[in-house]
Amino acid sequence: MNLDGLILREAKTADYPSLVALEQKVIDAERPYNESLKEKDAYYYDIEKLISDPDSRLVVGEVSGDIVATGYVQVRPSKPALGHDNHGYLGFMYVAEQYRGLGLNKVILQDLVSWGQQRQVTDFYLDVYVENNSAVRAYEKFGFRGSLLEMKLKLES
Ligand SMILES: CC(C)(COP(=O)(O)OP(=O)(O)OC[C@H]1O[C@@H](n2cnc3c(N)ncnc32)[C@H](O)[C@@H]1OP(=O)(O)O)[C@@H](O)C(=O)NCCC(=O)NCCS
Repeated sequence: MNLDGLILREAKTADYPSLVALEQKVIDAERPYNESLKEKDAYYYDIEKLISDPDSRLVVGEVSGDIVATGYVQVRPSKPALGHDNHGYLGFMYVAEQYRGLGLNKVILQDLVSWGQQRQVTDFYLDVYVENNSAVRAYEKFGFRGSLLEMKLKLES
């Protein structure tokens, strides 16, 4: 498998059904790391807004008409204590299994970070489960470093 024929483009409204299906793949990939995820009707993203909002860029990687990768960046206001007014928040990072490890997520990250840079964004954040080794590895190779650690206490219900 290689990335020959890969087209990287902004997502459009017609992609919506494919994107809704891929959102479930991201959620399923994360189930082993979070037992609190709903078994059904779990959703992460406002896909329509990510497509239409000028403050976000949702891109898809397409091969032979099939979407094989996704990712978005959204310009969000930052906390007042921080030296940057806005930051880029990244999410919906997904690469179809047969295309993993080929640098496709890196291509997506490069596109999204460049788009943010053109809008004077210098700081980029994302959330990832600490046990999601392949994702952590991919982000670290791109230059991301662990920052805030979310801690969780789960009581018996
Ligand atoms: C996380 C994910 C998007 C990474 O996509 P990818 O296209 O395979 O990542 P890349 O090939 O761009 O990886 C970049 C680097 O990380 C490395 N890497 C990726 N997966 C790896 C793995 N399983 N083991 C070791 N290294 C890995 C790659 O070798 C690459 O390094 P290189 O450039 O030196 O070769 C993909 O694994 C995925 O879709 N996972 C399921 C959904 C998910 O968990 N999303 C993340 C939510 S936060």
